[in-house]
Amino acid sequence: MATAAAKTPNMKTFKIYRWNPDTPEVKPHMKAYDLDMNECGPMVLDALLKIKNEFDSSLTLRRSCREGICGSCAMNIGGRNTLACLCKLDKDSGKELKIYPLPHMYIVRDLVPDLTHFYKQYKSIQPYLQSDKPMPVRENLQSVEDRHKLDGLYECILCACCSTSCPSYWWNQQEYLGPAVLMQAYRWMVDTRDTATKARQAMLQNSMSLYRCHTIMNCSKTCPKGLNPGGAIAEIKKSMAFD
Ligand code: SF4
Ligand code: SF4
Ligand code: FES
Repeated sequence: MATAAAKTPNMKTFKIYRWNPDTPEVKPHMKAYDLDMNECGPMVLDALLKIKNEFDSSLTLRRSCREGICGSCAMNIGGRNTLACLCKLDKDSGKELKIYPLPHMYIVRDLVPDLTHFYKQYKSIQPYLQSDKPMPVRENLQSVEDRHKLDGLYECILCACCSTSCPSYWWNQQEYLGPAVLMQAYRWMVDTRDTATKARQAMLQNSMSLYRCHTIMNCSKTCPKGLNPGGAIAEIKKSMAFD
């Protein structure tokens, strides 16, 4: 009967990376939690919040919007960088799920990576409109065609899933800007209202900032918003070769 079946527990094991800077003598380790999938919401974020609220309040993670907009719940789930709030739970109890913070980042605690350097890199590309034309009093209009050039770029939520999946970013993070930040650099280069394209290109004209990308495309494969940062990087390289 449906009621009886619903009451049979469907237990699933979550193994979650734990590390607390306040107890440095305890090494980073994986902690197991068993949850009944009949009593859990549909997304990985639901499971994490259930663990935090009902079993272990010390589990630390970032989240805010729970709908793929803020980018704060980015982590490595089952081997893939993605957003916990957009990642559907496989309720098959036979399969355990391993959850780590975004890879190759300094960790603040548990599933929370330190994004200070990532944001500093974002700031370095001057992600705002620059124009030598007088600003209009009201809207700064674009043609429909020019506006379309921003599609697939403006939707980026800066979750860092792509950059932290990129081997070049893992090894050269101090100097290589990485796919997320480079895609935003491109977003301003193709904005027809912005007149700083040459200066933006000049900033990338060195061996590290842009050219560490070797078109491995992990970035585009992992983007939880379905964007193509690897493609944007290829377009920057093309524009710098032919302009
Ligand atoms: S391109 Fe995708 S994966 Fe990269 S930061 Fe933007 S939304 Fe996240
Ligand atoms: S395409 Fe470039 S940015 Fe994307 S993963 Fe590969 S090396 Fe990194
Ligand atoms: S909680 Fe905002 S993107 Fe997941």
